[in-house]
Amino acid sequence: MPDSTHDDISFDEYDELVNPKPDECEFDRIVESAISRRGILGGTLSFGAFAMLGGSVFANRAHAATDRFAFQAIPTNTADTVTVPEGFRAEVVVRWGDPLSSAGADFDHASRGTGASQAEAFGDNTDGMEVYAHGDKVLLAVNNEYTNRSIIWGNRPDGKAETDDDVLKGKMAHGLTVVEIANDGSGWSIVKDSPYNRRVTPDTEMEITGPAAGHALMQTAADPSGTRSLGTWNNCGNGSTPWGTYLACEENFNGYFSSSVEGVDISPELKRYGVSEKDWGYGWARIDERFDISKHPNEPNRAGYVVELDPRDPNSTPKKRTALGRFKHENAEVVVNSDGRIVVYMGDDERGEFLYRYVSNGVYAPGNPTDSLLEDGRLYAAQFDDRGLGRWLELTPESAGMASMAEVCIHTRIAASAVGATTMDRPEWVAANPRAPEVYCALTNNKNRGIKPNAGGDLTPVGGPNPRETNNYGQVVRWWPGGGDHTADTFTWDLFVMAGNPTVHSDANAGSDNVDDQNMFNSPDGLKFDSSGIVWIQTDGNYSNADGFAGQGNNQMLAGDPVTGEIRRFLVGPKQCEVTGLTWSPDKRTMFVGIQHPGERGDSHWPEGGDAAPRSAIVAVTREDGGIIG
Ligand code: FEO
Ligand code: CA
Ligand code: CA
Ligand code: CA
Repeated sequence: MPDSTHDDISFDEYDELVNPKPDECEFDRIVESAISRRGILGGTLSFGAFAMLGGSVFANRAHAATDRFAFQAIPTNTADTVTVPEGFRAEVVVRWGDPLSSAGADFDHASRGTGASQAEAFGDNTDGMEVYAHGDKVLLAVNNEYTNRSIIWGNRPDGKAETDDDVLKGKMAHGLTVVEIANDGSGWSIVKDSPYNRRVTPDTEMEITGPAAGHALMQTAADPSGTRSLGTWNNCGNGSTPWGTYLACEENFNGYFSSSVEGVDISPELKRYGVSEKDWGYGWARIDERFDISKHPNEPNRAGYVVELDPRDPNSTPKKRTALGRFKHENAEVVVNSDGRIVVYMGDDERGEFLYRYVSNGVYAPGNPTDSLLEDGRLYAAQFDDRGLGRWLELTPESAGMASMAEVCIHTRIAASAVGATTMDRPEWVAANPRAPEVYCALTNNKNRGIKPNAGGDLTPVGGPNPRETNNYGQVVRWWPGGGDHTADTFTWDLFVMAGNPTVHSDANAGSDNVDDQNMFNSPDGLKFDSSGIVWIQTDGNYSNADGFAGQGNNQMLAGDPVTGEIRRFLVGPKQCEVTGLTWSPDKRTMFVGIQHPGERGDSHWPEGGDAAPRSAIVAVTREDGGIIG
């Protein structure tokens, strides 16, 4: 695969090209693949034992006389702007390359910055984020997931790094940004020179904690102890703890490693995570030998974790929490169970990978030490049946057939395969309803469903929460823990929505009955509940507005009502962006929304317009009457 075309394909597609999977596999279809839309909605999947429980795999939609949405739906569009409903406004807070100090130069559209300027500026590709109140200050912690080569190196004729400093600029655009923000009455902006402002980059020292810390697989020449690693990158979604720390989730960590030696031996364990001889065009091994797997084969074992950061202490060392497992972490949704134990729900975003749960052994009590809560606990993978029941399968050395819990926490995908977890349609964000013991997960899409196994060879039969072959639209699954206890071994589930296009299809690809020509979308990804119990859905999908996606426009954000099933479009992003990342100001009068990589294929100048470079940015959405917004 010539890397010059990587910007045109997704991470998953690149992984598949590098590590091709068999074209066909044999498996029994749990349900016939050609289920009609009516068949699904009418209950083809809902008879049997689950019907006796009084439920349906597809939610019943009571049509409420009134809705809980305090806005009018907006139509989709393909404009190069952020569109919100009448009575709301959206204003940019911070953009890729904005300096965090008054000494830093403003973003240079011609050069698009340098390694040095980028290291002191807001990172690229804003993703998961969280606002923290700290005394009278407001701190924003943000993931800067990755960079698009054609954008960050858009100053170069072919959109590729020419110099070592170009590579360094790309590297420094990754990681996290912590920045103080303030609203002076005319809108939110960053507070330059705040002592809380901080960049965490792929070079920042981290502490490795939990079962994998110190294991032989974690040891490198630079760190024989296996307990100190450098940096975090490809931080996708996030989480937040009740003790006020930020969780950044390492997703496509593999795409940064390469080999200077052709034909280097790559272990099956590294292959399961997509590590290969070629990186995805970032070129980090050129300036940093750590990323050369022929020299440092254990280095990839030190990435793929959840990182805990204290945003209130700019000198703190971030901690890699290996107890939460190693996979392509999307986000980490933290719940305090009724008994005080901490439960973390997590998705592994790759075709046919799994959904996970962590349960702490200790309990959370305000004021008590919290360090062990994400170090000492039990890890599980989800298994769904076709009738609306599921269970959590614990990953232990015994169940996984591994020598130690350290290995389980390093080779977590392989452990989950061993226990027979259910292969999913790319689990993205998980979100728990603060008003009810229920949890939602966006399954964004999976063109391999029913076609190919996952990277570990596990079959991907059509059925259960993944009911459509060659799933181009995605769905949102939700589950209710047994007895309302998030630590219970069993749960019941249904699909909150199957996305689709009812203007093009009349079969299952039309979507579930809470999707119509007014609210349709594809590829749900970001997912978060507001304090009122409304679930917000952000999309990272096909924005061609053509063929199967005709009429769906740019990526967008919608609100869903868990009770009625109603879904309504609230925001449409600019061209070629992904809408991802959502948080609120402490007074809930501002909603912050992330706009990632506008113009990833060259067709946007948002937010500045004219000939400006497109820049990932966070917008503040407020009501014109100043009211509460979530
Ligand atoms: Fe970074 Fe799975 O999205
Ligand atoms: Ca995502
Ligand atoms: Ca996505
Ligand atoms: Ca993206």
